[in-house]
Parts: sequence; structure tokens; C-alpha cells
Amino acid sequence: MEHETILTVKDLSGGYRSRGLFGRRRETPIFSGVSFTLRRGETLGLVGESGSGKSTLARTVLGLQPPFSGEVIRGFFDRPQMIFQDPLGALNPAMTVEHIAAEPLIAAGVRSRAERERAVKEIFDAVELPEACRGRRPGALSGGQRQRVCIAAALVTRPTLVAADEPVSALDVTLQAQILSLLGRLRKEMGLSMLFVSHDLPLVSSFCDRVLVMQNGAIVEQGDAAKVLSSPEHPFTKRLAAAALGEIPGRGKKV
Ligand SMILES: Nc1ncnc2c1ncn2[C@@H]1O[C@H](COP(=O)(O)OP(=O)(O)O)[C@@H](O)[C@H]1O
Ligand SMILES: [Mg+2]
Repeated sequence: MEHETILTVKDLSGGYRSRGLFGRRRETPIFSGVSFTLRRGETLGLVGESGSGKSTLARTVLGLQPPFSGEVIRGFFDRPQMIFQDPLGALNPAMTVEHIAAEPLIAAGVRSRAERERAVKEIFDAVELPEACRGRRPGALSGGQRQRVCIAAALVTRPTLVAADEPVSALDVTLQAQILSLLGRLRKEMGLSMLFVSHDLPLVSSFCDRVLVMQNGAIVEQGDAAKVLSSPEHPFTKRLAAAALGEIPGRGKKV
């Protein structure tokens, strides 16, 4: 069970479809030739510069948009969920956060209102959202509280796989640490498999088991998280690692 593969991605490519001039179909490729596996309980990091195609790949892997070619083979049957980067944009401003967290249960076919209420209470307790916040709308919450609501809404159906797309990028450093420790605790308690997307290599390598490095829509390196940071092999990964070292005073760059 421990090493059970729950996700296999084979030679996947994808991007955006649109209608061009005269209604002609246009395909804009964003990523291609992506292959990896994810095991149960494992956290896989996806790191790369902004615009490299990470979010598009994550959405395609989760089945939120169709691939152009290749395969996504899932070893589980529930619906994978996504934690988004910008909680204010991702949360319906007109609904109370209790209602927002109940929506995925409705989508998953949980018809009993009492059951939904119990599940929402349990997940809000798990993400430590203060009781006083639960009847409010997203606009009335702090950034950290909104990110907790986003996490609750993604986990309320108890998914096998969750993708977190830059879940702490919009937060200040103190809140980042709180949300990461929350995610770390929840993935253990709930036995989650996670695809963790970020542009921050040190953050990814400290939070994840393995890392995929993406450059311009291609995976240029993948491996053990600590190793990818400490001994990167691809020139692009080396650049990411060096840039990260330079940003942290006292580690590398002389000021
Ligand atoms: N809906 C869309 N239609 C067309 N192109 C898009 C769309 N969304 C994103 N893109 C383009 O796809 C590329 C990759 O974007 P994205 O997957 O969001 O990268 P990342 O998450 O790594 O920053 C970018 O060039 C972006 O402009
Ligand atoms: Mg993105």
C-alpha cells in the first residue's frame, strides 16, 4: 500500500484551445512531453518560473482541462481537488464561507444537509478557522483566514489527490509558515497525495518529497527534493538554486 502509485502521467502535452480568425480552431501548446508518477501519501513539487506552464499542467493533470495528447492514469476514483493561489479571486464573494465549503460536497452528491454541516464543521476545525468567521463572507476575513477556507473547501470531500497552486505566494512570511505547517499536518492526518506548485525552489524542496523542475513547458529535471536543491544538474535548476541562495542574506551572496 505504502508505495502504491496513484497517478501516472505519460508523455502529456496540453495548452489552450480557442477559435481564431473565421472560427478556425487554434491550439496553443503550453507544455509537452511531461511524464511522472505520484505515490500515495507523497508530495510532489512542481517548480519553475512564472509563465512556464505550471498551473496549466496542474489543471490538466487534475482533469480540469483536456490534454492535447498523452495520458493521465489515475489509481483512485474520487474527484481531485485544487487549492488556489488567490483566495479572494477563487472564493465566491456573495456566499458565506460555510456555504463555500459545503459546495464541493453538493457537487460530490452528498444530499444530507446534516451530513454536509458535520463535514464542514469538521474541516473548519481541522484548518483552525475561528468559529466566529464561519458565517461571514470572504471579504470580511483576513488573507490567512481566506487561505484556510480555500484549503477547507478543497479537503472537505476528503480527496485522495490535491493540487496546491502557489498556496502561500500571496501571503507574508509569517502567514506562509503557518499555512505550510497546516498543510504539512493535514497531508499526514488525511494521508493526502499532493502536487505542490510554486516558483520558489527552496520552499518546494523543504516541503516536498520529490520535485519536478519545469522550464518553458518542459520538465528539465526531476528527483529527490533535497538533492535537486543541493546538487542541481540542469543549468536551469542551477540558476533557480543560485538565485534562491542570493536572495537569502547570510547564505551565499555577500552583502
Ligand atoms: N486561458 C488561457 N488562454 C491562453 N493562454 C493562457 C491561458 N492561461 C494562461 N495562458 C498562458 O499559458 C502560459 C503558462 O501559464 P501558466 O500555466 O499560468 O504558468 P505558471 O503557472 O507557470 O505561471 C502563459 O504564457 C500564459 O499567458
Ligand atoms: Mg501559476
